[in-house]
Amino acid sequence: MENRFDGDVVAITGAGGGFGRRFVEEFIARGARVFGCDIDPDGVERARAAGAIVDVVDAGDRDAVVRWVAGIEAAAGSAIGVLINNAGGHLGTPPRSIENVSDGEWDAIVAANLGATFAVCRAAVPAMKRAGRGRIINISSGAGIAASRTSPHPYTAAKHAIVGLTRQMAYELGAFGITVNAVAPGLVISSANTRKLWEGMSPDAKSAYLQTTFMRRVGEIDDVVNAVLFFASARTSWISGQILSVDGGTR
Ligand SMILES: NC(=O)c1ccc[n+]([C@@H]2O[C@H](COP(=O)([O-])OP(=O)(O)OC[C@H]3O[C@@H](n4cnc5c(N)ncnc54)[C@H](O)[C@@H]3O)[C@@H](O)[C@H]2O)c1
Repeated sequence: MENRFDGDVVAITGAGGGFGRRFVEEFIARGARVFGCDIDPDGVERARAAGAIVDVVDAGDRDAVVRWVAGIEAAAGSAIGVLINNAGGHLGTPPRSIENVSDGEWDAIVAANLGATFAVCRAAVPAMKRAGRGRIINISSGAGIAASRTSPHPYTAAKHAIVGLTRQMAYELGAFGITVNAVAPGLVISSANTRKLWEGMSPDAKSAYLQTTFMRRVGEIDDVVNAVLFFASARTSWISGQILSVDGGTR
């Protein structure tokens, strides 16, 4: 049976990025009305070309997020049905020892990943509660579950915190018919940045990565898309507070 979202209101942060654009395409193809935001104007254009209504918004800016969510609810005439908190990433910051992490990179990475997830959920949940239904899907990371070989400290810390926020919101929001789950991808070649990261790894580091990954490959964007579609489905109404590793198997 096909997983359709006809008429559903789907909101996606970071909609112009590697994962974000594929989420847009997939939900549009399945009948949803898709709204997005991204901080990168080029990304916004790409997500618009994929069929979504997309605004330039910093998802870590709480006031801007309140306006973005209110605009979606007004345009759609309803609450958001499926919310995908996808904005974030390393923001070009390499891993470095803890004493060398700057205030600026700590604040920016925590804001784009954890702060954005909090801000968008806080703005969107009241209408979702009134509607008595909804799906929230947070994009964490393998770095949200264990130490990472490739990530900077603030990223690992923020992605772990997204796991905690997912569980705490799931506990609260179940009574309102809203499920809250997270997807924790391993390394997926989703963008020029992740391609650079993979290609910049030494042959030994690549080999070690593949040897410790049960399926012996890095991820593809659709591996993550499929996990998001699963949690977004009307058929997963009794699954909440779960963190799904999509990483080829590591433990
Ligand atoms: N690709 C991977 O290997 C991988 C693995 C684990 C988790 N993730 C997570 O998946 C999500 C998507 O990553 P991706 O691989 O598609 O990377 P990407 O860089 O292609 O996409 C991220 C998008 O988020 C946007 N963004 C960043 N900060 C923002 C902000 N403050 N407000 C609004 N938009 C913002 C960026 O402009 C970009 O378009 C991220 O949260 C990332 O941490 C990716």
